[in-house]
Amino acid sequence: MERRHFLVGQRISLSNLSEEDLSDDAPYFQWMNDLDLDVFTERGRFPNHPARHRSYFDRSADRGSIVLLGIFDNATERHIGNVSYKDINWHSRRGFLGYVVGEADFVGKGIATEAVGMFLLYGFQKLNFHRVHTTVALDNVASIKVLERNGLVREGVMPEHIISGDRKLDVAVYGTLAENWMPAHADRVRKNYQSAPF
Ligand SMILES: CC(C)(COP(=O)(O)OP(=O)(O)OC[C@H]1O[C@@H](n2cnc3c(N)ncnc32)[C@H](O)[C@@H]1OP(=O)(O)O)[C@@H](O)C(=O)NCCC(=O)NCCS
Repeated sequence: MERRHFLVGQRISLSNLSEEDLSDDAPYFQWMNDLDLDVFTERGRFPNHPARHRSYFDRSADRGSIVLLGIFDNATERHIGNVSYKDINWHSRRGFLGYVVGEADFVGKGIATEAVGMFLLYGFQKLNFHRVHTTVALDNVASIKVLERNGLVREGVMPEHIISGDRKLDVAVYGTLAENWMPAHADRVRKNYQSAPF
């Protein structure tokens, strides 16, 4: 069956994941085992496991504290990455932003920048977030570019926050408020949508 995308962009679309996307031999499961994608993060301390994979999705499916959308390439319909809000606090209206571009042939082409922009507009306009925040290792130059191009501001640095073998990584907190982000970025990001629903 042809997938109907949720947030339809010019080049990529953001959509819920199907059972097929979640299966053990699908790309998403493999990304979670790809240590090359975990150089500056600490997601991959343990091998991925079907039950763990499933439970993260199930928590997202009930929209309690996680919203998880796949990034799909419009031209090929390939599932190439994910964007998510986790630790959502609906009272204070904030979410913690996460993203991954898992397919190597799509890295460095502006996909994360575009997906994060679209997802921020959705967060502020559709989920009514007041604040979006995230953390990023200072060595993760590509990810910092993604955040700063999308108007997230460095709010502080947590020294040696991640320890991985001999490496001790300083990690920055980035964030923005709807009232700052919307006037500066919403119009630009709407152009990434085929037709912006908000
Ligand atoms: C970080 C990540 C999301 C970037 O995705 P992407 O689609 O390649 O990002 P974009 O192409 O939109 O932007 C990245 C920018 O950084 C640049 N870049 C990539 N690697 C770089 C490096 N090692 N040093 C300097 N710049 C780099 C890219 O060229 C691009 O800049 P440009 O547009 O000026 O050429 C992706 O590499 C990834 O999923 N990494 C693993 C998971 C991760 O770190 N997630 C973020 C956690 S905070």
